[in-house]
Amino acid sequence: MKDIAEIRADFPILGRKVYNKPLVYFDNGATTQKPQSVIDALTEVYTTYNSNIHRGVHYLSDTSSEAYEAAREKVRSFINAGRREEVVFTSGTTGSINGIAFSFGERYIKTGDEIIVSHLEHHANIVPWQMMCERKGAVLRVIPINDSGEIIFEEYLKILSKKTKLVSVTQVSNALGTILPINKIITAAHSVSVPVLIDGAQGIQHGMVDVKAMDCDFYVFSGHKIYGPNGIGVLYGKEKWLTELPPFQGGGDMVDKVTFEKTTYNALPFKFEAGTMNYPAAIGLGSALDYVTGIGRVDIAMREKELLAYATEKLSGIKGLKIYGNSASKISTISFLLDKIHQYDTGMILDKMGIAVRTGTHCAQPVMDHYGIGGTIRASICFYNTKEEIDSLAAGIEKVISMFE
Ligand code: ALA
Repeated sequence: MKDIAEIRADFPILGRKVYNKPLVYFDNGATTQKPQSVIDALTEVYTTYNSNIHRGVHYLSDTSSEAYEAAREKVRSFINAGRREEVVFTSGTTGSINGIAFSFGERYIKTGDEIIVSHLEHHANIVPWQMMCERKGAVLRVIPINDSGEIIFEEYLKILSKKTKLVSVTQVSNALGTILPINKIITAAHSVSVPVLIDGAQGIQHGMVDVKAMDCDFYVFSGHKIYGPNGIGVLYGKEKWLTELPPFQGGGDMVDKVTFEKTTYNALPFKFEAGTMNYPAAIGLGSALDYVTGIGRVDIAMREKELLAYATEKLSGIKGLKIYGNSASKISTISFLLDKIHQYDTGMILDKMGIAVRTGTHCAQPVMDHYGIGGTIRASICFYNTKEEIDSLAAGIEKVISMFE
């Protein structure tokens, strides 16, 4: 693996100061910073070949289309999908889940059918299913969690039934960092012929994706959480499903032939890509995946594991600090609260020290409800962070505590 100083130098923003203090960025769960190679890829599109994809016969359009399709191939290879037809670009994880919830609902769901999610879900993997259940008269079932922030697998097996039409769970809890046992979840669902969607928004950047090995039916993620641009995401779906499902948006490029009487749709994956796609961001995402591959996914995971162990030990040693989410199976995210100090006060004071953490419910209100709290402070750490930054966070927290004493 590259030396940490070299890695940090790849991310221009990490060298900046905030309130005249070195930036300590621990909000990687919300969005990651971008390496220069991704910024350069975007600049290259706009300065040398910007033109709409799949629409022109001219040189620039061909170049753009080729770069966009090359990015699709990079995604295919990164997630180990069998075919490029199974890789659809979307606006992000939220767009991908909403799309599937709509199409799957239209195609397969009837009154009384059930969809299973877990209590650890981000709102983006709850609300689209609720909306679909409301439209179709279906029922949302929820896998409960224990106080360590893990799903209770036996309870999942109890609610998985003949009525279940789809299981949609996150790979990793964004609020607590828990890694879900998705292989077991998928195997159990498949044993009763139920398809599974995996929300990979917080999983993909930690090195954990191989859709063939997982055998998931759908896998979705956002580009901006894996060092790529904002406004781009991926919907992977097994070809069988994508072939059967109707499109979730109509418009340009997703059609084969249009008359006022009837429209036929384009082949996969274009059937699901209506309108001008965010091709510069897709190309930037391809560049981000190259960057991650270049650093090494296993090395990234190992470094983050080491940082998590260090941060957990440091923060656990602070009197009055309580960590939420204590599963042995976690990514490098620590959610915590300080005794009698509001999370927003903590976050705002840390901010003045140049330390960026996220505060609040993290778009996962049910998780907060489970613990009976209004939110947490979340430090989401990634491979470009350092032990010195974790020391700064710990010192910052001690300072917050001393200010309130
Ligand atoms: N879903 C993002 C997060 O967890 C925004 O912070």
